[in-house]
Amino acid sequence: LPVPNYFELLGGEDTFRLLVDEFYAGVAEDPVLRPMYPEEDLGPAKDRLRLFLIQYWGGPNTYSQERGHPRLRMRHAPFVIGEVERDAWLRHMRHAVDVLELTPELDRMLWDYLERAAFFMVNKDL
Ligand code: HEM
Repeated sequence: LPVPNYFELLGGEDTFRLLVDEFYAGVAEDPVLRPMYPEEDLGPAKDRLRLFLIQYWGGPNTYSQERGHPRLRMRHAPFVIGEVERDAWLRHMRHAVDVLELTPELDRMLWDYLERAAFFMVNKDL
């Protein structure tokens, strides 16, 4: 039996581009999250998140070719992430996932991961 390719099942490249575009449109307007981003231009951050998610779900590993091992908790250490930041991140991400209009099964699979990953990234008052 072939191993399911979740990257393809989720809709490939187009899905992740749309997801991250929608998510960052929210971040760009967010009074808590926007100031956390060190760069004026959100474009490069957007590319990094898109390439990471594509790699995570089994698509091309361009992220690691460009950035090395993800080490996401370590890479988030410079930013103070508490409940407020986590919940703002998840709110924009929930909206972005809604826009994808996935089947309920794929929606739940993607969302469960994003929710767990966001809780894992909290680094304030642990
Ligand atoms: C980078 C904030 C959760 C994936 C960043 C950056 C900020 C940030 C400010 C730096 C922007 C950049 O230059 O790339 C947050 C906040 C979160 C959160 C407030 C709330 C919980 C997550 C989660 C994931 C994620 C859950 C993955 C599912 C990434 C990736 C990068 C990044 C891949 C770029 C890492 C690199 O290669 O340098 N995040 N993040 N973040 N974040 Fe998050």
